Amino acid sequence: MKCDHPDKKFIQEAFDSITPCYDRLNQILSFGMSEAWRKKACAIVLKGTGSFSLSTGQAGSGKGACPPGSEKEHKGDRHHFIKTKMVPVPKTILDLGCGTGKFLECFLKTRSWESAVGVDFSAAMLQKASETVSGNVMWLREDFDALPFLDSSFDLVISGFTLRSVQNLPEFLSHVHRILTPGGKAAFLDLTRPRNFWVRLFFFPYLKFILPLLGWLISGNRKAYDFLSGSIQDFQAPEKTIQWMEDLGYRDCTSKSFAFGAATLIMGRKSAPSNEP
Ligand SMILES: C[S@@+](CC[C@H](N)C(=O)[O-])C[C@H]1O[C@@H](n2cnc3c(N)ncnc32)[C@H](O)[C@@H]1O
Repeated sequence: MKCDHPDKKFIQEAFDSITPCYDRLNQILSFGMSEAWRKKACAIVLKGTGSFSLSTGQAGSGKGACPPGSEKEHKGDRHHFIKTKMVPVPKTILDLGCGTGKFLECFLKTRSWESAVGVDFSAAMLQKASETVSGNVMWLREDFDALPFLDSSFDLVISGFTLRSVQNLPEFLSHVHRILTPGGKAAFLDLTRPRNFWVRLFFFPYLKFILPLLGWLISGNRKAYDFLSGSIQDFQAPEKTIQWMEDLGYRDCTSKSFAFGAATLIMGRKSAPSNEP
């Protein structure tokens, strides 16, 4: 099925209308995995933040350990650190297409933030997020193609299951890059297509026929779940997104797939000249 990219009005109305059953349907349609993917993605994104990581050499503690942020050589030392680099501690977080706030909530529960912002253009989604997610979050009703933020505003920009709704992905990635602080990280979690032959045998009939049918029956909105199915079938491979990110100046771009590639987390950083090894 070719997914003609629907206009924003359609996407906004679709999400407004499915808000009451959105979280429940996500869990049903992903066989209970969507929440686990968000949690795993959060753990991966925050791994090592606030500590210092080894780019080469042996791990060790106590004598010989370098202070955070330093870069040192201890040749002949039993616990030698060849090179260490500080992983910046993110203090400000932005969730683009935050929906009911489930992805942002994982990050809020894991550590404290100086400021947390959730952006979505669906008023119903934002309403539900503000009622169900605890914590000091600024919920903003905005189109993420016209973000009202200054350059270098956020240490971490996340987005869960939203990239497929983006109309111009290179432009979107460029906006994200602009609002990241130097050294800041972008992390996008989305549904993708598994590569394993045996998994695909089940996945594609499920995606094409069962998922839209279940979505329609439970939500009452057939077009929204036809769009969901079509957008996964047509969504570009993660490598292409990573290529665009690298072309736009992101560095340390990586991806991690879940459930044989049914979901993928893509990450990259904005360069921080003082942080280069
Ligand atoms: C599939 S939902 C994902 C929600 C949430 N991130 C999650 O983890 O479940 C996609 C969200 O992106 C929002 N969205 C789509 N296009 C948008 C745009 N141009 N500006 C702002 N929000 C948008 C939709 O309203 C919807 O809430």
